[in-house]
Amino acid sequence: MVVTFPPQVENSGSQYLPENTGIKADISPNQQLLPLTAKVNQHDHLEIGGCDVTTLVKQFGSPLYILDEATLRTACKQYHNTFKEYYKGESQVLYASKAWNCLAVCAIVASEGLGIDVVSGGELYTALQAGVSPAKIYLHGNNKSRDELILAIESGCTIVVDNWYELHNLVGLSTDSAVRIMLRLTPGIECHTHEYIRTGHLDSKFGFDPNDLDQVFTFVSQQPSLNCVGLHAHIGSQIFERQPHRDLAAVMVEWLRDASKYGLTITELNVGGGLGIKYTESDDPPSIAEWSRAICEIVQSACESENLPLPKLLCEPGRSLIATSCITAYTIGSSKEIPDIRTYVSVDGGMSDNPRPITYQSVYRAVVANKMSAACNETVTLAGKHCESGDILIKNVQLPKTAPGDILVVMATGAYNYSMSSNYNRLPRPAAVVVTNGEANLILQRETYQDLIRQDYLPERLK
Ligand code: LLP
Repeated sequence: MVVTFPPQVENSGSQYLPENTGIKADISPNQQLLPLTAKVNQHDHLEIGGCDVTTLVKQFGSPLYILDEATLRTACKQYHNTFKEYYKGESQVLYASKAWNCLAVCAIVASEGLGIDVVSGGELYTALQAGVSPAKIYLHGNNKSRDELILAIESGCTIVVDNWYELHNLVGLSTDSAVRIMLRLTPGIECHTHEYIRTGHLDSKFGFDPNDLDQVFTFVSQQPSLNCVGLHAHIGSQIFERQPHRDLAAVMVEWLRDASKYGLTITELNVGGGLGIKYTESDDPPSIAEWSRAICEIVQSACESENLPLPKLLCEPGRSLIATSCITAYTIGSSKEIPDIRTYVSVDGGMSDNPRPITYQSVYRAVVANKMSAACNETVTLAGKHCESGDILIKNVQLPKTAPGDILVVMATGAYNYSMSSNYNRLPRPAAVVVTNGEANLILQRETYQDLIRQDYLPERLK
């Protein structure tokens, strides 16, 4: 077959390539479907970070998470640099590591100057092991255990206090030096996003009710063992609208003003995360730079009109930092054609490595990595291999004609895929590699059957 480069077929896998393959500082990763380094090589194969995806699968096995380091670093830089450019005070971007927490990801993000938001002892431990400075780690959670609080206090990270129970626990655990805390508040701002991932409305399990601010500020101001440095709020995830975060920033400056009346010197404001990404052609999120700039400008002008000194401004994006930098490569196996109904094509993973479609009905796009310029003239339903009818990765996806052994790539799987993965049906979790300039390095080893029974015990009497 003669392939023209770049491939000319409009309705082919190539249609998903970034606007300009290669790292351009002004292309916002969250507005692309494939990583910024994606291109089609002379074999008509998808290449990421200079590595042929089909070769990576041969080398590291299938399924495989493939993380493009350049795309992740570009997103980090765009957040970091926009805050530095448009905010006159101090700023710190944190990565919400619940999106994907592992040693390598924490290390990459930290090397770009970002801090890390963690939500459990496990995430905190991983960030510390990755060498992230505790001064840049913030621990979240609506029901932190005593052990998690102790680990946080001993490591010296900041604790984002969620409720009264936690405040009292912290006072009980107090040490000689005051514990550095922030207070999480529920701003009551609605977002048009999936119901399960709304966290900022009043009916939320997270955060203090702003109506209780008087009692909370009074209590905190009387505790010498607590050093309350900041206020935090997060209104939800996968948000495309501009207004909710603008309203949030303005509301938070009002809280900041109120805090000063209690003698509290609050110097940090954290507006959370939530910027959406493009999963399909119809998704149209603001760019990282646009989002960041708007936050900076609103906080700045609200502080000016309230005559308040500029707080250190923090935000904590997860999805928009990492989702687009990763793809998942699967191998196609069986298929089943049901005349006049649909054709199922199955891959060797599914809801255990990407639980988002079955959990949130999330929609993804896919390409066949070894047939990038072939016309996508078949509509099939891409099924996982789990014993569950709902284990469908993508309904009605447009693909070229596929055959067993083809490498199928699902795009934008960097956020909430590995981190929400499971061993359902006792499937070992896939490996993950980070790719850059033609080099691939393992960052998560593929689980083995031995790993699956590592925590199992067979009591003597059952043998
Ligand atoms: N900060 C806090 C306090 C959060 O609760 C979250 C996400 C973030 C930051 C990061 O939000 P992001 O920038 O990623 O939107 N599992 C769901 C998403 C749950 C998000 C929970 N909180 C999903 O797969 O869509």
